[in-house]
Amino acid sequence: MNENLRLKDRPDWVYLLREVYDFYRASPSGGSSKVHSHQRTTRKAISRIIKASPPLVFDPPEQKPVTVHLRRALDQGRRERHGSLIDTIASIAPQLSWRYGYDRMPKGLQKNYTYAEFTGPSGPVVTNETILGLVLFAPGTTYPAHAHNDITESYICLSGAVSENHQGVFASGSLIFNPPGHQHRITMSDREPALLAYA
Ligand SMILES: [Fe+2]
Repeated sequence: MNENLRLKDRPDWVYLLREVYDFYRASPSGGSSKVHSHQRTTRKAISRIIKASPPLVFDPPEQKPVTVHLRRALDQGRRERHGSLIDTIASIAPQLSWRYGYDRMPKGLQKNYTYAEFTGPSGPVVTNETILGLVLFAPGTTYPAHAHNDITESYICLSGAVSENHQGVFASGSLIFNPPGHQHRITMSDREPALLAYA
């Protein structure tokens, strides 16, 4: 393992972060000042990460049962306006370490869910600026209700269609905003996997 590896040494990761930045610039805020401010905050954090070129530390690549759906999710997402973001994800996908985020996994989720990080305190891009990553769900999955105290979260729907708290449907290209403490439960379409990016 190269202990001196930095972000700037891996252009594919720089392109990925720039594409996420561009999504947060191009996506509409729907007239919401809170969403607008979150989009700005996220962009600024990504800019600082790219400028600082932090260490890149890779865990061994790891698959989970649900990653058999990744190819389909990327193929579906590539047809959307954010197709170039999908291309950058596809280029680094073999390096991702897919994980579970639960000490005690809710029933049924083990086969249907996984996440992988791009940036955060535990890498691969080692930073405290913001956590960016992907979460992948099999068709028909329900992601149980949860809330993040003291954390503002957004999900970008990259592929598939999801509903949060049964309140509307977020199609591919949508941004879902979860303010700190907001309880949210996500349901996925029966027919297609869902790939979300989160910040
Ligand atoms: Fe969440």
